Amino acid sequence: MTGTLRAPCGAYPRDLRDLRYNGGVTAWARDMRRRTFIQVCAATAGAASVPAFPANDARARRYSRARLDDGNGRPLRAAQLPVDRTLIFHYPYAATPCFLLNLGRPVTAPARLKTATEGSYEWSGGVGPGRSIVAYSAICAHQLTYPTREISFIGYRTEKSARNRFANVIHCCSEHSQYDPAQGGRVLAGPAPQPLAAILLEHDPDDDTLTAVGTLGGEMFNAFFTKYAFRLSLEHGDAARDAVGNRSRATDVDNYCRQQVKC
Ligand code: FES
Repeated sequence: MTGTLRAPCGAYPRDLRDLRYNGGVTAWARDMRRRTFIQVCAATAGAASVPAFPANDARARRYSRARLDDGNGRPLRAAQLPVDRTLIFHYPYAATPCFLLNLGRPVTAPARLKTATEGSYEWSGGVGPGRSIVAYSAICAHQLTYPTREISFIGYRTEKSARNRFANVIHCCSEHSQYDPAQGGRVLAGPAPQPLAAILLEHDPDDDTLTAVGTLGGEMFNAFFTKYAFRLSLEHGDAARDAVGNRSRATDVDNYCRQQVKC
């Protein structure tokens, strides 16, 4: 289901450099206290509030391999992936959501990127027969907004809008961070201090399957598990931080999430 509900903290887009470099940590902490969006949409009454900083380093990290399956438990084939649709899967942990996208065009140019802590890395582009398939952690690099079963304020948008200066971006409606999925999750606008963490995918040309094998860039997992500890414990018990296993189901976002906020 889609909707036009505005984010409760629907601030106007801002330049991320304002936040990163003007006023330093004190200003950052003050800003964090002012914003209540995350607490509202995640309903984490008992959750600790922690800054998204510092991001982890930028090296590629290998996790257990997880083949992507369709909703019926069959291997997801790259050829099945519709263009410009968003699929959600979890990786590398049971509770950490990711976006899977077929951008519909070859994405072959590598992107040189940096984390918030100046760790540099190179993202090498899409995978699959058309090099058009990409995947990213769905946890916003600003204040950790993520898609839940109930509602999502972050998602892939093909269209421009009053708040969305760019087409074909991952847009977080919390405070309008916009990320380019064709450039390794590079930040195009908004306060996010670093790109979305990329999910490393392997495509097997023999059977056209996709397997998640690791991450690249600034992971936000530690901050995510700290911030949403209470909520995640209600949803997953002790299993939120379990490895996702050797398979992860990829679900169309319309089936995964009851309401998607567009902004
Ligand atoms: S949580 Fe602030 S822009 Fe996403």
